[in-house]
Amino acid sequence: MSLHEFFLILCPLFLSATESVSYLHLNAGWKFSRFTSNPDSLSYDTLKSWMLPLANDFIVNGGKYPTPSGTPPGNNVPYVQASFDDNSWQSVDLPHDWAIAGPFNAPGISGGMGRLPTNGVGWYRRSLTATADDVDGSKSTFLDVDGAMSYAAIWLNGNLLGGWPYGYASWRVDLTPHLKAGSNILAVRLDNALDNSRWYPGAGIYRNLWLVKVDKTHVAQFGTTITTPSVSSSSATVSLEVTVENKGNAIRQVDVSTNIYTLDPSTGAAGTTVVTSFTTTTVTVNPGTKQLVKGSVNISNPSLWGPPPAQTPHLYVAVTTLSASGNGVSGTAIDTYSTTFGIRSIAYDANNGLLVNGQHVRVQGTCNHHDQGSIGTAFNFRATQRQLQTLQEMGANALRTSHNPPAPDLLDLADRMGFMVLDEAFDCWSQGKTSNDYHVIYSDWHEPDMRAFVRRDRNHPSVIAWSIGNEIPEQSTSQGGSEGQELHDIVKSEDPTRQSTSAMNSASQTAPLANVLDIEGLNYQGEYGAYGSFHSQFPGKMVWGTETASCISSRGTYLFPVASGNGAGYGSSGGSDSSHMWISAYELENPGWGGSPDQVFMAQDNFPFVAGEFVWTGFDYIGEPTPYGGNPGARSSYFGIVDLAGFKKDRFYIYQARWRSDLPMVHILPHWTWPERVGQITPVHVFSSADEVELFVNGVSAGRKTRPGSSVYRFRWDNVQYSTGDLRAVAYKNGNQWAVDSRKTAGNAAALNVTVDRASIAGDGVDLAYVSVAVSDASGTVVPRADNTITFSVSGPGTLVSTDNGDPTDMVAFSSASRKAFSGLALAIVKANAGATGQITISAAADGITGGKVLARRTGANVAEVDGPVPQPAIRHMPARWKTRTILSASKWNSVDI
Ligand code: GAL
Repeated sequence: MSLHEFFLILCPLFLSATESVSYLHLNAGWKFSRFTSNPDSLSYDTLKSWMLPLANDFIVNGGKYPTPSGTPPGNNVPYVQASFDDNSWQSVDLPHDWAIAGPFNAPGISGGMGRLPTNGVGWYRRSLTATADDVDGSKSTFLDVDGAMSYAAIWLNGNLLGGWPYGYASWRVDLTPHLKAGSNILAVRLDNALDNSRWYPGAGIYRNLWLVKVDKTHVAQFGTTITTPSVSSSSATVSLEVTVENKGNAIRQVDVSTNIYTLDPSTGAAGTTVVTSFTTTTVTVNPGTKQLVKGSVNISNPSLWGPPPAQTPHLYVAVTTLSASGNGVSGTAIDTYSTTFGIRSIAYDANNGLLVNGQHVRVQGTCNHHDQGSIGTAFNFRATQRQLQTLQEMGANALRTSHNPPAPDLLDLADRMGFMVLDEAFDCWSQGKTSNDYHVIYSDWHEPDMRAFVRRDRNHPSVIAWSIGNEIPEQSTSQGGSEGQELHDIVKSEDPTRQSTSAMNSASQTAPLANVLDIEGLNYQGEYGAYGSFHSQFPGKMVWGTETASCISSRGTYLFPVASGNGAGYGSSGGSDSSHMWISAYELENPGWGGSPDQVFMAQDNFPFVAGEFVWTGFDYIGEPTPYGGNPGARSSYFGIVDLAGFKKDRFYIYQARWRSDLPMVHILPHWTWPERVGQITPVHVFSSADEVELFVNGVSAGRKTRPGSSVYRFRWDNVQYSTGDLRAVAYKNGNQWAVDSRKTAGNAAALNVTVDRASIAGDGVDLAYVSVAVSDASGTVVPRADNTITFSVSGPGTLVSTDNGDPTDMVAFSSASRKAFSGLALAIVKANAGATGQITISAAADGITGGKVLARRTGANVAEVDGPVPQPAIRHMPARWKTRTILSASKWNSVDI
């Protein structure tokens, strides 16, 4: 469907509402300053009683917090005043991660946290223009924060409005009481302590910020809940609850009505009308109150949501319209709110695992932290989409959002791409893992954080279960049991349709927490036999590997001798080199608690009732460079199946071989350029979905092997003597040739081979081109150990965003235009400048060899008009964000998939 057609379909539906409602990015035009020592004498202690009232909507079990009397703290801080001159502050657009530019080795920041300067107080300021209509008393204006790291507090025109400490939470603050016609000053204070995380948390307003202008009577925040209580291929019941909120001073009578349309998962366009005028009812809403409207409807022959490849992630969108009624104003639409949903059933079977729409689906998942490599934690749609596409190419069908609520956009993508998501809330409860992590605020915030999280995410069909916590220190104690019970009960009260789990690494099957959970989630201990004991203890509960493997490797770096077993603890064999901080890419090494992919596969096969696994991790991430987290040490992890730059490690293919067993593929390791190893034993391992593989060394067969036995998941020739030349693996399935792979000895580095991931990118200042450089010899073979320094330059209407190479030890700032190749490869990330047109040329140069360049065409600019002095690019919007206020969303979505 073209953009034009999309407008034709949507405009008649939404026209009346779009006049009074707007839902806009507030991402452009900010000023920012970071302070390493506190510039304003404020702290969480002074701000807390002003933040807590924002939590009131998410507290059921306790008392509500009154707004304190007296002058709020910070109202006299210069940064919140219009008169403050912020010219010397940095100009930034959101989402923004203040730490990612580096430099590395920031004082006080451990290797575990990525050695980047996340700590300190950060102030953001922006002016905001309101029209007379905005403040005529009929409207509410909210600021919706998808995520700000951390301890955010917000002032408008010098008035503290509140805040929210958990950096991964999404929350709303009401600007209305202090908004005035003309220019307003919005100021945000963030505060990140040292030692507040076990991984790189990022820093800043690192997710989208939205300005929401609505009628005083509107659909409340997270104000719809859609469930599908009965689902079959011939019919489904869709139940909808709508919360109508009246923030005005007068009683309002409102007609509520909902239509349902199909939604194209690839373009995001609304399609055919499925249901009209569902939930039609009239409610009277008193000032300052909310009213719940419920309705349900049957849909015949529904198009079900399910994970590919066996199923298709069909989506629907419910468009709810509120119209003023009574007092002669009937029929005027005052709010329209869209909710994307899917129709699907889930069953959690103790013996057969997960059933989606009655079909067994093995969970083939990865855990992922929220950073996106060298661009850090600042949410970027394309960066996330690229990660998910890579994981899907491997055969992954599931994600665990370790160990925190993700950006809401990630779930929109998961809905569309058909990923199943284990949505996780916390890494700790009342007992901490680091001195300043979540345990500091657990007692005040766990209920509002948990409720807000579930309410935000419960309409996503991709979410298949809630994780209430990861490796909770008190998991084995009665305290862990009672805290877990409370969180479990909160989850169930907000969403009775999904099961709860928690990732337990040490609790036994008799721990109180294990009894509380719906699904037994095991980190690592399953591989050591705990799957069996938990299954026996809870014969009616599903069991899964919430975290598995933790295999570690440096991409393309092979060390000798190679362990003979199907896994190796690092340090116990030739698998690590501490002088270079390398871990062998034979993909056998793991820390004591983990296992190789092979060992995990074996455990999964030995316990066939296990629903599947979430591998630690899909991508390398910043921080936690186990085993080189000391000083000096590395800055990013070795755990990823894919490295930090997005280059696939060999491990990618052992998962692909298992998870996409019908894909013809075969993959050889190591590379075959070992001038110093002539005549030495150089094992060759092969990952393949075939049942037989024959290896040829310089054209001579080294033997044809059949699929190894139950404990071995790789074909291996451990006695190959290295000689210059080539390797060739020919794979067979059912006796027929299935796939072929080869490696050949490379010559000296001669040229840079530059490629870009997509031919064109959107012209919005946000979309990204990923430019890869391979150092190649004269015949085009990648030189596998090349470490040439490559300098990138960009001409035309584009900007270099960052560079990387996937080497966890590289301490050159991500913002540098020069980057050494690591194992022959380097990456540059480039964006198109917003509003310009033309071609971008990205060039790569290295001393002594031929440079290369690539063209990235850019599409026309999609510029949206927003409030404020700075023109705002139309950044990608997602269906959950449509709320009819973002018709522009379709244009971005269309331009992304090119
Ligand atoms: C787990 C933990 C993860 C990560 C991993 C590394 O125990 O849950 O967050 O630290 O170990 O192996």
